Amino acid sequence: MTTPLIAIYGATGHTGRLVAAELHARGQHIVLAGRDATALQAMADELGARAHPAAVDDPASLRELAESATVLINCAGPFSVTGEPVASAAAEAGCHYIDHAVEPHHVKRVFDTLQAPAQRTGATMIPALSFYGGLGDLLAAAVADGMTDVERVTIAYAVTGWRMTTGALNTARQLFAETQRIGFSDGALRVGYVEPRNAVFAFPPPLGPRTMIAPVPFPEAITIPRHVPARHVEAMLTARTFEEEQVFTSEDAGAEARAATDFTVAVQAITDHGGRAGQITGHDLWRAGALASVEGAMRLLGDDGAAKSGVLSAAEVFPAEPFLRELERLGAFTVTL
Ligand SMILES: NC(=O)c1ccc[n+]([C@@H]2O[C@H](COP(=O)([O-])OP(=O)(O)OC[C@H]3O[C@@H](n4cnc5c(N)ncnc54)[C@H](OP(=O)(O)O)[C@@H]3O)[C@@H](O)[C@H]2O)c1
Repeated sequence: MTTPLIAIYGATGHTGRLVAAELHARGQHIVLAGRDATALQAMADELGARAHPAAVDDPASLRELAESATVLINCAGPFSVTGEPVASAAAEAGCHYIDHAVEPHHVKRVFDTLQAPAQRTGATMIPALSFYGGLGDLLAAAVADGMTDVERVTIAYAVTGWRMTTGALNTARQLFAETQRIGFSDGALRVGYVEPRNAVFAFPPPLGPRTMIAPVPFPEAITIPRHVPARHVEAMLTARTFEEEQVFTSEDAGAEARAATDFTVAVQAITDHGGRAGQITGHDLWRAGALASVEGAMRLLGDDGAAKSGVLSAAEVFPAEPFLRELERLGAFTVTL
């Protein structure tokens, strides 16, 4: 039997390096891919891995990469640029696919356009299995497990100490400028201008009530309604996150400084008669996102990989609470349900 190969596209970025290091530490067979051949080779020499240079406008090379691998983790962003070519190559090759996208339009496009090819080739595709997006999706599934007729799901992120990378900054610039936002209200996906407002979300102590930017354009509006019967789904982020000086001025920060984030992700699922809540709390959101994608890839290599094909949200593929508990065991965060 051949050893399964995990391809990491965008391997030389901050997220790609965390993903590669984690898979290497677990003894996995990896191939490092992206557009910078020199940087890839240097990293491959360090890890004793193979490099596969492939630009996003080189479909033949992307196809060759996807055909060689069992799972491809796309860590290169903005995904408005890298997402479609890399995800298409995976779908056509029957290679399982995970990405770190936060951009709702990319996530919607993957669901809308790659469902048929992925089902035909047997690929399982999970866009947005990262910190923003994926953890909200899994936590909402764990909180709302078994609930029917949910009025509202709120996913509230409290983040301090965030130091954005070049990839994150370029993504944020696009999202801030976007006027056609994807939201989920009154039981339907809606695309159009929504003016962000300040809301107050009451996190459990020690955070307490915080001023939030709501809604924020995150993928949960697309993924959560696929498995939670909710009328409204909204993601929000602490307003203070973008008021901290270092958030936009840390492109050159080292990995240690970047790791110094604190986060809480809280989910409320509200019904007419009450509701339920849960949260995860931890440090280093980059590591939490990287561990989520690695855990997804490991599960796709095992029995979970054969179970479902097509484009799916994380919580449609994996039982949500055990997945979160495994990340808790790995030290990514503490789960309260
Ligand atoms: N959802 C979440 O919670 C979450 C978490 C982490 C990251 N992300 C997203 O993941 C992406 C990467 O983040 P990061 O922190 O790793 O950024 P980063 O350190 O700046 O790395 C970006 C990577 O993407 C590659 N890249 C950028 N444009 C490309 C293109 N046109 N073609 C091929 N490769 C390209 C870069 O290659 P070069 O080195 O050659 O420029 C680099 O390898 C961002 O979009 C970010 O928003 C999301």
